[in-house]
Amino acid sequence: MKVTVFSTKPYDTQFLSRANPPGRHRLIFLDSRLTPETAAAAGGSEAVCGFVNDDLGAGVLRVLAAQGTRLVALRCAGFNNVDLVVARDLGICVARVPEYSPHAVAEHTVALILTLNRKIHRAYARVREGNFALDGLLGFDLHSRTVGIVGTGKIGAAFARIMAGFGCHLLAFDPKPDPGCVALGVSYVPMAKLLRDADIVSLHCPLTPKTRHLIDAAAIAQMRQGAMLINTSRGAVVDTRAVIKGLKSGRIGSLGLDVYEEEADLFFENLSDKVIQDDVFARLLSFPNVVITGHQAFFTAEAMHAIAEATLANITEFERSGRALHEVSVEKLA
Ligand code: NAI
Repeated sequence: MKVTVFSTKPYDTQFLSRANPPGRHRLIFLDSRLTPETAAAAGGSEAVCGFVNDDLGAGVLRVLAAQGTRLVALRCAGFNNVDLVVARDLGICVARVPEYSPHAVAEHTVALILTLNRKIHRAYARVREGNFALDGLLGFDLHSRTVGIVGTGKIGAAFARIMAGFGCHLLAFDPKPDPGCVALGVSYVPMAKLLRDADIVSLHCPLTPKTRHLIDAAAIAQMRQGAMLINTSRGAVVDTRAVIKGLKSGRIGSLGLDVYEEEADLFFENLSDKVIQDDVFARLLSFPNVVITGHQAFFTAEAMHAIAEATLANITEFERSGRALHEVSVEKLA
């Protein structure tokens, strides 16, 4: 099957090619992001392989369908960038990789927490300058602190297990509580109580119309003074402007982000000799108590291998039976 792969980086080529048995599928790797302007490049491809910031809205899907595309194989878990209703109406099958390594994202979440708490980002820079003073580097014991987990699916549950090992009290909010988390000692509470009691709030829910700006000004006002907020889910789960106000007032004591509302124009590219045009993002970078990584939480060798294998398996199964292994559809979500 001819598959056009958008937003390709060298590591995508490496892992996807390795997972594609010789002569199985014809993978066409394109650097460009999938947008209304670049969709024509997939002409003649029965399948398109997209990533988190590819535009799979109504306009792009219509162009793809008219060109003969019948499968959108996402090489990620989230599918908030796809118009599933339009895909269904056009007869395009949408598949994703529901699970690859929840540990990769959970462990990166812990890396952000430890960095912020023990100020590793500042200590690293100081020591390189020969500055060994400890002022400003005071952290707190994670042991006995309360961690609030929003969304205890595969990643949230893996994160809960790690934080239990630190000796933290675990609160969670999820419309579908996980028995494994309950057995671990996680207490499911209403969102308002989680925000009120947690020293660290970590977001692991998908981006949906219900979770867009879940952390807004009203939610921040309910948080503990000086609480840490971590988002490794999707950028728009938090209202970034409200978070900036929370940081300025001190209500949010520190912020760790792996995702950002407007990341599509920034992340995954080397912009180091460009002027950043996004003033909201630039403001975030100016805080000493903010650590941002560019959507790298998934990026481990194990996860990349699993993503490539599952993406190719979706494509192969679709070619064989007309159905992908891990389809996402409006019906399944209902
Ligand atoms: P999952 O589907 O296993 O779990 C999501 C959980 O969120 C479910 O238990 C669901 O009931 C819960 N949820 C749904 N609506 C909620 C709400 N309003 N409030 C609280 N919880 C709610 O998904 P998984 O694999 O754990 O991934 C979670 C999210 O992490 C993905 O949707 C994706 O956006 C993000 N992600 C980020 C990556 C990164 O590299 N930064 C990589 C992979 C995923």
